[in-house]
Amino acid sequence: MKKFIVGNLKMNLISPREREQYFKSFEQALKGKKFSAVELVLCPPAVHLESFANNLKKGAVKIGAQNVFFEEKGAFTGEVSSSMVKNVGVEFVLVGHSERRRYFSETDSLVNEKIQAVLKNKLTPIFCIGETIEERKREITQEVITSQLHEGLDGISSANLEKIIIAYEPIWAVGTNIVPTADEVLEMKILIKKILVEKYSLRLAEKATILYGGSVNARTIKEVCLDSDMDGVLVGRESLSPRDFVQLAEIIQRGSVK
Ligand code: PGA
Repeated sequence: MKKFIVGNLKMNLISPREREQYFKSFEQALKGKKFSAVELVLCPPAVHLESFANNLKKGAVKIGAQNVFFEEKGAFTGEVSSSMVKNVGVEFVLVGHSERRRYFSETDSLVNEKIQAVLKNKLTPIFCIGETIEERKREITQEVITSQLHEGLDGISSANLEKIIIAYEPIWAVGTNIVPTADEVLEMKILIKKILVEKYSLRLAEKATILYGGSVNARTIKEVCLDSDMDGVLVGRESLSPRDFVQLAEIIQRGSVK
């Protein structure tokens, strides 16, 4: 199965000009490279989705949205739905990112409704989970992850679980340049699989796609992805530089840093 590198551009690229520059650099960075073992996904802000899909999709890159609302259409001022993003070429949607949970008060039950809506529209949810530093210090990481998974996946069938990507992002590692060790990441992967065995089955847990996110770069990727045997990475800051992002994709493709 292919590994994933998902770039979360967050609230960046503030003008069409910046966006065009990004496309140019991306094209240059991709020149002459083939990624048979890695799926590249970029998640730009909603205003850029259509343009990203039109400009980058023909190449080796798939497009994801950073967020959607769970309703289909109607009087929900300021929101964008799964069908809307699907209709402009989006295939993936980040759901429950820690910044959405923190700044927009997204709860596990809202995250669950969004996952259902994304699946209904035949898009792939990238379901983000992770503990805060306080929760880690209080040694309740296991409880936090267990409840995020149980509530986020409430009512999701076995057939649908196979269509979901899970991204483990310890919140204390996002934007901080502090990362867990390979053993710590592996421990979380095992915990997530154990929860999936209990909730679903061994077969589905084995097949589950689990990414790592939080301060991934060329120096940390060995530890947080290669040595911990993750199915790929969710990348924030490094996705703002196409060169760095493509370099990470090459490392994953090779399976070694150099
Ligand atoms: P970072 O962000 O790579 O800048 O730490 C990761 C994320 O928020 O997905």
